[in-house]
Amino acid sequence: MQIIKYKQQLDYLISHDTIIINNGVYVAGYSIQETLDSLTLISLFVDKNYRGKGIGNKLVKSAIKDAKKIGSKSLFLMVKKDNKKAIKMYKKNKFKFDTNDSDTRYIWLKLKIKIKKL
Ligand SMILES: CC(C)(COP(=O)(O)OP(=O)(O)OC[C@H]1O[C@@H](n2cnc3c(N)ncnc32)[C@H](O)[C@@H]1OP(=O)(O)O)[C@@H](O)C(=O)NCCC(=O)NCCS
Repeated sequence: MQIIKYKQQLDYLISHDTIIINNGVYVAGYSIQETLDSLTLISLFVDKNYRGKGIGNKLVKSAIKDAKKIGSKSLFLMVKKDNKKAIKMYKKNKFKFDTNDSDTRYIWLKLKIKIKKL
């Protein structure tokens, strides 16, 4: 599988995108959007045929690494309250409940990123 990372400028947001391609077919990916004071993980997705093989977990860990590289102290994401599978995956990776979204079907999760002192 081939991992492709790129960075694109979207008006006020800077998006860092990662996609995974297998034999030319897009199988998984995510984006990180960077605003003035925070980072948000969006569109994390694994193709149905590739789920349950640990790719989702790897993507979350890769997003956390990206956030560390960017130098952020936290990483946010929004997830549907009934998406138990995804919530379990994020909690395993130490994301904690942050707030309810104004649209009550969603919650925000937040990961505090430890920055190593030199
Ligand atoms: C959520 C999603 C990304 C998981 O991807 P995946 O590659 O299947 O995930 P993994 O195989 O790495 O499993 C990650 C964790 O998810 C949870 N999980 C995976 N399959 C599960 C299932 N069938 N039931 C319950 N939990 C499950 C487990 O916590 C698992 O960790 P574990 O295997 O160590 O217990 C994938 O199902 C998906 O793309 N769903 C649609 C899009 C989506 O909901 N994205 C998140 C939006 S915020």
